[in-house]
Amino acid sequence: MVAAIKHPATPDLALELWSKDLTREHGFEPLRVEGALPASLRGTLYRNGPGQFGQFGAHYAHPFEGDGAVTAIRFDNGQATGASKITPTTGLVEERAARKMIYGTSAPWHRRIANTLRGKIKNTANTSVVMWQHRLFALMEGGKPTELSPADLGFLGEQDLGVIQGAFSAHPHYVPATRTLYNFGLEYGRVTKLHVYALPEVGAARELVAIPLAGPTMLHDFIATETHLVFFVSPIRISIARAMLQIGDFNDLIQWKPEHGTEVICVPIANPEKVVRFTTEPFFQWHFANAYTRGKALVIDYVRYPTLDTFHEIGGYVRGEDQAALSDGRYHRAIVDLDRKTLVSEQLADRECEFPTVIPGERGREHALTFATFDQLGAIGSIDHAGTITAHELPSHQRASEPLYVEGHLLSLCHEHDRAFVAVYDATRIANGPIAKVWIDHHVPLTFHGTFA
Ligand SMILES: [Fe+2]
Repeated sequence: MVAAIKHPATPDLALELWSKDLTREHGFEPLRVEGALPASLRGTLYRNGPGQFGQFGAHYAHPFEGDGAVTAIRFDNGQATGASKITPTTGLVEERAARKMIYGTSAPWHRRIANTLRGKIKNTANTSVVMWQHRLFALMEGGKPTELSPADLGFLGEQDLGVIQGAFSAHPHYVPATRTLYNFGLEYGRVTKLHVYALPEVGAARELVAIPLAGPTMLHDFIATETHLVFFVSPIRISIARAMLQIGDFNDLIQWKPEHGTEVICVPIANPEKVVRFTTEPFFQWHFANAYTRGKALVIDYVRYPTLDTFHEIGGYVRGEDQAALSDGRYHRAIVDLDRKTLVSEQLADRECEFPTVIPGERGREHALTFATFDQLGAIGSIDHAGTITAHELPSHQRASEPLYVEGHLLSLCHEHDRAFVAVYDATRIANGPIAKVWIDHHVPLTFHGTFA
């Protein structure tokens, strides 16, 4: 166990990252490199997050409603180029043409009622990116994948991949052992359905199973072992009545109902209809790190929160409230016993933690280390099985984002006031700080997730 370290934050920077629009859009252009980039680092880091937080003089009600922007940094032979673009989604183009907000909770009430009745939402493509079969997709959990050109981030349109019904979550997980990318999507209706998809490296995407859920909920992430897909469905209820009657905003539509408990749903990949499901104590998680199968048990590493408060705290940023929105997240290891239908969860480290990732080759099997951000994005480091954290503490005028492991290095898009940089760490010497920085000379809002291709 490691004691929590208080990180002296620059208050305005958090607000900027969660609520200030991308200040410049551009195609790939040379970036300044500080230090020496490893020559072995070749490829493109794609990062996605909300890049525009309002239009026509009004703010969206929650940062999660922001229009997506992808920032890409290409590494080649010790040099780097970068591009940043707001994704011109169908809904955003429609709003720009109409010169007014049409979608979201900040649109006029008659618009919102009409949109709700017609099931129309704006697919903001604002949460993550994934590569599948050499195609690049920007993802947002309320809509279908938005295809972008990997070469120049050009908009290629929304895709259903021949199989997606309803939505496609922003957290697909690739399992090297099965050479398959798995994902899910929620479909709201008389019964809320959890659609589970398999996207193989070669061949067509298919639906593995559709599972009815207890009510309309919000589900952000899941995790895959080499044998099972695991969902922790927290006791969140989306108030359809409030959505229809337009009572309250985005924050009020989503409610914490701890009396329902968290439902654990385990889908065997080889026999997806044989679902194991049971209810345990209420808790919430945004993100999983990894999971693996150990006999009749599943070992699941994730960042656990006692309640949904973090969601509403993030919403506060657009109201100018600077707060410790991620302060309740702790790294946990859960053991699910598939026969006895039990979940036992243990906190591994007592330090604020978010955006956990593992070495790509270890996904779905036992991993040695998890990489993550700590203390309100104030540090980047690793956690081992004993819960020991090795971290680099960023200076107080900088913030980090989700670290990604690439061939012995750790890449994280970091932020300062009005500029950003990709920090490149030697993954075995994180505490020493970055060995190189690639500078972007403009403000980039916080990106949630990314991929390296
Ligand atoms: Fe996420």
